[in-house]
Amino acid sequence: MDDRLVSGSTHEEDHSLDTNLRPKNLSTYVGQDGIKNTLSISMTAAKQRGEPLDHLLLYGPPGLGKTTLSNIVATEMEVRIKTTSGPAIERAGDMVAILSQLQQDDVLFIDEIHRLSRVVEEVLYPAMEDFFVTWVIDKGLKARSMNLSLKPFTLIGATTRYGMISSPLRDRFGSIHRLEFYTVQDMEQILLRSARILDVAYSPDGLHEIAKRARGTPRVANRLLRRVRDYAQVVADNIITQDVALKALTDLKIDDLGLDGVDVNVVKCIIEKFDGGPVGIDTIAASINEESETIEDVYEPYLIQMGFLDRTQRGRVATRRAYEHLGYEFNQPSSSRLQSRMEL
Ligand SMILES: Nc1ncnc2c1ncn2[C@@H]1O[C@H](COP(=O)(O)OP(=O)(O)O)[C@@H](O)[C@H]1O
Ligand SMILES: [Mg+2]
Repeated sequence: MDDRLVSGSTHEEDHSLDTNLRPKNLSTYVGQDGIKNTLSISMTAAKQRGEPLDHLLLYGPPGLGKTTLSNIVATEMEVRIKTTSGPAIERAGDMVAILSQLQQDDVLFIDEIHRLSRVVEEVLYPAMEDFFVTWVIDKGLKARSMNLSLKPFTLIGATTRYGMISSPLRDRFGSIHRLEFYTVQDMEQILLRSARILDVAYSPDGLHEIAKRARGTPRVANRLLRRVRDYAQVVADNIITQDVALKALTDLKIDDLGLDGVDVNVVKCIIEKFDGGPVGIDTIAASINEESETIEDVYEPYLIQMGFLDRTQRGRVATRRAYEHLGYEFNQPSSSRLQSRMEL
């Protein structure tokens, strides 16, 4: 389990926090304006036609609001939501059971949908397209298949790994949206709302300090807010001022761009051990003792967003900005790096 303070994945302590702080409708869901506008039009249109919303695929790094948005869609459509996840559905029969229990217009939310097994996924194809499942009864010579019709429903899939969704599955979604990292202004708004719900005293520049270092990720912002609140309670006057936030975050070893020790290790490793890259993700992972999946899901998207890493066909490359931020001298790009850029 990934227990970094700045990681977007869920921690144990987040569960109760998540439910309290999770926006319940579109108007309290901050940011992601493009997605919100498109969704709100599709939802109105679907309601007017008396049909379920088109199947929807949401992807992006952990902690950006995929689960929250899925629940909001169900609320706004005034339908029930059934929540499950890719790894939880082991057999085709489990998928058939879930689908056949859905009622008219229900939302079926499948988290980590990239982790569905092939056989389970194949049950979904006709279900999504024509609202039926094919079910094989009996074995051997007596085996025969039966079509079972389903009530029209909306499938919402969420994933951190868009590239791992097979194309037949991908093609069956009516709309596909990528959630973006949030701007500092959005993060401030999210923190303001959370501070009010948690009844924490703050000054605006205190929240701004947290917003800047929350890696554009609401889950991280809420987690940092809680840590800074503890600090304010114990060491300061119970108010999150800029000074208090700065001290608390420095204590937590988060730098002014939201990078923590592990991010820094990833970049340092590329610069020091591999001459700035290109180097493969597995090699980086082995050399800093982290899982390559965690690096790809959690660390890398933010490092790329910040302009510290480039992803090339031959591997990851540290940018000039990375050298400068970490205090290294940036030499001219090595020939291997130039070559890898030209190949793209
Ligand atoms: N757009 C948003 N506005 C306000 N808070 C948000 C938003 N998106 C996410 N959050 C907060 O971040 C937490 C994590 O969001 P979640 O939907 O669980 O992320 P994901 O499913 O993408 O990992 C939620 O509990 C919620 O408090
Ligand atoms: Mg989620």
